[in-house]
Amino acid sequence: VDAAGVRTFDLAMQAGATDLGRGEPTPTWGFNGAFLGPTLRATRGEQVKVNITNGIDETSTVHWHGMHLPAGMDGGPHQPIAPGANWSPQWTIDQPAASLWYHPHPHGETAKHVYRGLAGMFILDDANEVALPKTYGVDDFPIMVQDKAFDGSKLDDRAGLFQSTGILGDTVLVNGTPGPFLDVTSERVRLRVVNGSNARVYRFHFDDNRPYAVVASDGGLLPAPVETNELLLSPGERAEIVVDVRPGERTVLQSTPPTGDSNRFTGASDRLDILELRGAQTLTASPVVPATLAPAPDLADDTVGATRNVSLGGSNTNFGKMDLERVDIVSTLDTTETWNVTNADGQVHNFHIHDVQFQVIRYAGGPPPAVLAGWKDTILIPQGETVELRMRFTDFADASSPYMFHCHLLRHEDQGLMGQFVVA
Ligand code: C2O
Ligand code: CU
Repeated sequence: VDAAGVRTFDLAMQAGATDLGRGEPTPTWGFNGAFLGPTLRATRGEQVKVNITNGIDETSTVHWHGMHLPAGMDGGPHQPIAPGANWSPQWTIDQPAASLWYHPHPHGETAKHVYRGLAGMFILDDANEVALPKTYGVDDFPIMVQDKAFDGSKLDDRAGLFQSTGILGDTVLVNGTPGPFLDVTSERVRLRVVNGSNARVYRFHFDDNRPYAVVASDGGLLPAPVETNELLLSPGERAEIVVDVRPGERTVLQSTPPTGDSNRFTGASDRLDILELRGAQTLTASPVVPATLAPAPDLADDTVGATRNVSLGGSNTNFGKMDLERVDIVSTLDTTETWNVTNADGQVHNFHIHDVQFQVIRYAGGPPPAVLAGWKDTILIPQGETVELRMRFTDFADASSPYMFHCHLLRHEDQGLMGQFVVA
């Protein structure tokens, strides 16, 4: 933090080589290192500035997934950073505590750039947070989950070329580590899980089926913890879970096949170990998860200023294939809108929108399940179903600078399943 109160981060995109568990290094990309990037962290109310340099040999961008910020700072395809160039976006953090992430968003090349290793977490804190485990690296951990395919020891970014969903790998990395385990030293741990995979949908559960508490979704803490033993996360979605561990015990966070026919396209036949938790013989005491966590989203009773219908299918939305020169939706500042988003084909799609967090009003014909009762920016939409989302555009009007909405299966996004909106 400098004298003017600005918290500054430096991110250098660079090429390198990483041993991802194959016994030999493979070419990768990272921020400030050869693979992935540092966890950035800031508090609500702070001004942040990120000095980014592009040291790889391709044009890229850095997008702040989940962040409420001016469109010109968003890091989408309209803010390219050429090789050797710099970009220094600056904005004020003005949203609840949340686990966000950052990743490239270059037009048509996002899948490759993320897959090579360009991704990191951006944690937001809020002075009025309830008591949950929050000592980074002690009882509060970033868990970036990605699946990778290899050709020998080389990261295979041509894998899945003929698969509609894109790459599905058989090796799971957590924070870049294959076969990971975590030495747990407290009674409870908070895992900030990011599905940073290109295409895979995970259904997280523990091998002994133990229940855990889901305390946060994309945009921050849920109104109340949700006790469950399984949780579905599609690419780009986050969840924070709090797990109880007893002294000396071991348990493995796994992913089992999501149910449903066409989910096999996102890896439903796979049972994957994600992360082993190893309890120490003596554990320090942890706070009990409070029964109330945060105010619930409050847009349900708003006057709706506009209703948008968006459908996702093939490699385009109902507005057509993504076109950098075409704005699909013009939203009005300080207006609440309803977006009905439909998965119109037999494929797996989710929906992500920049700048705002939305409230889920209806999910596939019913009220949203409890894990979708908080603020969200990315949501899985079952085949043939519609979700009704409500969102409000505030603070930043800029008719000349679009934000994106798109499917977060990165191959679909790159192929054109993306649209643009401006707030004017
Ligand atoms: Cu995580 Cu438009 O992206
Ligand atoms: Cu899709």
